[in-house]
Amino acid sequence: MKHLLKMSDLSVQDIQEILDLADKLKYEKKHNIPHPILAGKTLGMIFQKSSTRTRVSFETGMYQLGGSALFLSSRDLQIGRGEPVEDTARVLSRYLDGIMIRTFAQKEVEDLAEYGSIPIINGLTDYAHPCQALADFMTMREYKGDLKGLKFAFVGDGNNMANSLIVGAIKLGMKAVIACPEGYEPEVAEWAKANGDFSIVRKVSEATEGADAVYTDVWASMGQEGEAQERMKVFKDYQVNEENMSVANKDAMVMHCLPAHRGEEITAETFEKHANEIFDEAENRLHVQKAIMVKLMA
Ligand code: CP
Ligand code: NVA
Repeated sequence: MKHLLKMSDLSVQDIQEILDLADKLKYEKKHNIPHPILAGKTLGMIFQKSSTRTRVSFETGMYQLGGSALFLSSRDLQIGRGEPVEDTARVLSRYLDGIMIRTFAQKEVEDLAEYGSIPIINGLTDYAHPCQALADFMTMREYKGDLKGLKFAFVGDGNNMANSLIVGAIKLGMKAVIACPEGYEPEVAEWAKANGDFSIVRKVSEATEGADAVYTDVWASMGQEGEAQERMKVFKDYQVNEENMSVANKDAMVMHCLPAHRGEEITAETFEKHANEIFDEAENRLHVQKAIMVKLMA
């Protein structure tokens, strides 16, 4: 494994190794056992979109591993003024030991990997968010143990989160279902149908029925602000709430990558009932980010 660009590039073994390593690093952190595995290494973090969790977990994670992290806003980089990604990749490869990038087009991340000579980590594109998905599977394993055969339900937009989670769930042997409006299906749907137990439904309760983990995300992602009004109407019935959760399995988890919009994709009541899971999930970004960096950069 040379890069982390999207979930479909990972083997089941890669996923398991990252999750096992993340568990170990989490244990060491909790017991104050230092792990300066990346001493002397530098990660560049390019952001073309906002971030709280991704930025802080990578930056803090890198310090905890003994290395340093540079925050590079695309507004200040020459890439923001049109310097080609091929050149940026070749230059940054001479200074840095790894790059984490959050941007719009998946192609930009794939190009960085193609032209650079250092590991590239996708910190979210319109297509994928593998770092978040890995933290989500880490959290599901903590709560549920072996994930094989469990039912994973995604409620809402077939977006970057849906793509990454559905691919990951199928690879880990889960049953996956998405409840989404027509026209908002995930890009990975055909792959998922061909490779595992995956279905698309239009009614939320059909997805949540018998589910072990129910996941939702915002109705309008970063970059879709102009569609927000329209999406409010299209997605109004695609909400995780107590009624839809009443048909899920007892002890079903509710998950959210955050930021959450209470009253839209999830009610405040359901969010607070599952706050432990949701904030464990946010914490696990740190441990998973560290595992990814160790695997790619050590
Ligand atoms: N979940 C997630 O990626 O959060 P940020 O946008 O705050 O990084
Ligand atoms: N789908 C959301 C995820 C944020 C972490 C977005 O892309 O804005």
